[in-house]
Amino acid sequence: MTVCEYRPGLEGIPAAQSSISYVDGQKGILEYRGIKIEELAEKCTFLETAYLLIWGELPTKEDLEEFETEIRYHRRIKYSIRDMMKCFPDSGHPMDALQTSAAALGLFYSRRALDDPAYIRQAVVRLLAKTPSLVAAFQLMRKGNDPIQPNDDLDYATNFLYMLTERKPKPLAAKIFDVCLTLHAEHTMNASTFSARVTASTLTDPYAVVASAVGTLAGPLHGGANEEVLLMLEEIGSVANVRAYVEKCVENKQKIMGFGHRVYKVKDPRATILQHLAERLFYELGSDEYYDIALELEKIVEEKYGAKGIYANVDFYSGLLYRKLGIPTDLFTPIFAIARVAGWLAHWKEQLAANRIFRPTQVYTGLHDIAYVPIDERVSVNNNNGSHGKIY
Ligand code: CMC
Repeated sequence: MTVCEYRPGLEGIPAAQSSISYVDGQKGILEYRGIKIEELAEKCTFLETAYLLIWGELPTKEDLEEFETEIRYHRRIKYSIRDMMKCFPDSGHPMDALQTSAAALGLFYSRRALDDPAYIRQAVVRLLAKTPSLVAAFQLMRKGNDPIQPNDDLDYATNFLYMLTERKPKPLAAKIFDVCLTLHAEHTMNASTFSARVTASTLTDPYAVVASAVGTLAGPLHGGANEEVLLMLEEIGSVANVRAYVEKCVENKQKIMGFGHRVYKVKDPRATILQHLAERLFYELGSDEYYDIALELEKIVEEKYGAKGIYANVDFYSGLLYRKLGIPTDLFTPIFAIARVAGWLAHWKEQLAANRIFRPTQVYTGLHDIAYVPIDERVSVNNNNGSHGKIY
């Protein structure tokens, strides 16, 4: 066996072989199953894209209709799950609510038959169908309202916005939201996908796979940057302040949210598509000053940092779009999760098809041959000598 050098964060180390998605960070290319993201965003719905990611090829008309029908049928969530969710604290973060309720699905659909294609199909359909319902249900419950039932006449994106806001969205808003889901559906070996694959490799159930991935996505280094972008735009406050803000960041070596990427050294292709969508949405629904600030900020950041390969990433415009669609800021990451369920499930299936349990090694940095000290002879190394940090 080759002995590898330790790389913090496994940077640059392949964790799997995968044919699901591909990124070329120098050229700004993202492909799902070999098809460019620009083409999918323009021509495909999110469910069509999810089908492509999970089953490996674009569905025929009949396949897609069947898939959509199954998903419509499974959108409802059981009353017992709703009752369980009613016990969640209103102040809890929606990502915690989603992780808990996604894991709870495994209690209610507990059969685990990973070699049965019908079971795989049902799990895929249930998770894609129910994740938006779980997010919308928690949103209404924390406002003190009962969740509303899905509307079978509405497509995936329209129905989610309807369940979330209690009114039917404009067609353009639903269309744009659907494209946002497509753009976030998959992105090679990121932290939550790795987490999903590790969990999948133990042959546990797919609800646990998704719950562990949701928990990983919840961290601010992964799913939360678009929330930070909005806070930053609020802090900047006006177009006139943008240049001074960027100059202050350069001086203080402070990162500008929504810019830079570990892989992309040119503008993230998803940011380009989102920018076009933002243009359309703000044109139709009316611009706001944060959008104007964002445009100015992108221009000045490119001027200052472009030579370093720092450009807008997927998070720069998505928060602005979601806010214009009336979505509360703390739901941005759960919405990312709704989309990414497609990618996680594709990786779950791919992992099962050639499974080997993840069991990496470590570089031990501790001591050896230390003598055991009886408890009465030990000296405390904990010098807080009070109740600090203790929970009674
Ligand atoms: N603003 C200013 N300078 C930056 C930025 C930025 N947003 N991003 C990177 N740099 C600079 C950084 O200061 C460093 O400079 P120097 O070499 O002089 O020390 C250099 O570029 C390399 O930065 P790094 O943090 O080592 O690069 P990375 O590849 O580890 O970071 C990143 C990638 C996304 C963590 C980082 O760009 C960042 O923190 N961006 C802001 C947060 C953000 O927008 N996150 C969303 C990421 S996209 C979502 C996804 O696809 O998962």
